[in-house]
Order: sequence, then structure tokens, then C-alpha cells
Amino acid sequence: MKTLILFSTRDGQTREIAAYLASELKELGIYSDVVNLNRAEQIAWQEYDRVVIGASIRYGHFHPALDRFVKKHTAVLNKLPGAFYSVNLVARKAEKRTPQTNSYTRKFLLGSPWQPDLCAVFAGALRYPRYRWYDRFMIRLIMKMTGGETDTRKEVVYTDWSQVASFAREIAHLTGDSRHK
Ligand SMILES: Cc1cc2nc3c(=O)[nH]c(=O)nc-3n(C[C@H](O)[C@H](O)[C@H](O)COP(=O)(O)O)c2cc1C
Repeated sequence: MKTLILFSTRDGQTREIAAYLASELKELGIYSDVVNLNRAEQIAWQEYDRVVIGASIRYGHFHPALDRFVKKHTAVLNKLPGAFYSVNLVARKAEKRTPQTNSYTRKFLLGSPWQPDLCAVFAGALRYPRYRWYDRFMIRLIMKMTGGETDTRKEVVYTDWSQVASFAREIAHLTGDSRHK
């Protein structure tokens, strides 16, 4: 049996975190498939004993594909031990990096028919040179208002990889007994 790690990304950071989780799990003897949620048409659920979903925030929202996926697969998701992680820049501030204090994540969990056993919030990446001018302008404005990096020549990765590694260890401990449904 394997772990299924699904990710929803725009600029790649959520995929990088998914790949990091997979490599940490492998160290612990757990094999994973890492799959883009947008391209997950047919899933052989019977091959998996655990599921992880990761998604990033853009202009205040997760990609609509996340909600669609969760709605479509609610029954099977709620049967499997599962974990969710969200990726955003508000979480670069430690006090906004928990499921309770990160408003995007709190809102998702409140509205989601899937209730994961574990949840984490990771700080994402700020990569000015890769954005189109409008996005660069908007993100810089937000950064200016919230006391963040405003130098548009910079790429900054705020992800705390040790936090990701410790989430992988928690995922490794998930078992069927984690679900009391
Ligand atoms: C156009 C744009 C809009 C964003 N909007 C938000 C936002 O509203 N709140 C936030 O916390 N982070 C926001 N971010 C930061 C992203 O969540 C962060 O860059 C993350 O690493 C993106 O993950 P991804 O590469 O997997 O899509 C935004 C980033 C971009 C490029």
C-alpha cells in the first residue's frame, strides 16, 4: 500500500512541498505517488492506505479544483486516514501558521465535507521575477502593507523544511485507527 499525495499549485511551491513530503516518507519506508490534483482523473484508490492533499492560496482563495475534488471524492476521502496542508504567504508569520490562526485554512476546514485527521499550514515562496507585471505589482503592494519583502529582483522561499519533515513524521503515524467514523 502507498500514500497518495495530491497537490494543487500555481507556481510550483506546493508541488515542491509534496515532493519533499514524499522523500521524507520514503526515508521512513513509506512509498508515495505524487499527483497533480488537476490531472487526477482516474484514481486507483484501492492502492492507497493514506491520502495527503496540499493546495496554495492566490488572491485569498484555493483553486476551485480543490473544492470540486473534495466534493467528488468525499466518501472515499473520509474513509482513508488523511492529511491536508495549505501554502500561502500570510503564513510567513509564525503566528499565522496554524490551522486555527490561518484564516484560509480555518475557513476551508469549517466548510469542507472532508475532515482530514491532520492539518498543517506552510509558508510559501515569493518569486517576483517569475510573476506577470500585474501580479508582481499586487503582491508587492500586499508585501508593502504587511511589512514583507518589496525588492522585485528577489526570490524568497519562506517554507520551513523542518516543519514539513515533522509533518511527514506525523503522516507516517496515521493509521486506519486514526479515523473514528
Ligand atoms: C498572484 C498571487 C496572489 C497571491 N495571493 C495570496 C494571498 O491572497 N494570500 C497569501 O497568503 N498568499 C498569496 N500568495 C502567495 C502564494 O500563496 C505563495 O506564493 C505560494 O508559495 C504559492 O504556491 P504555489 O506555487 O504552489 O501556487 C499569492 C501569490 C501570487 C503569485
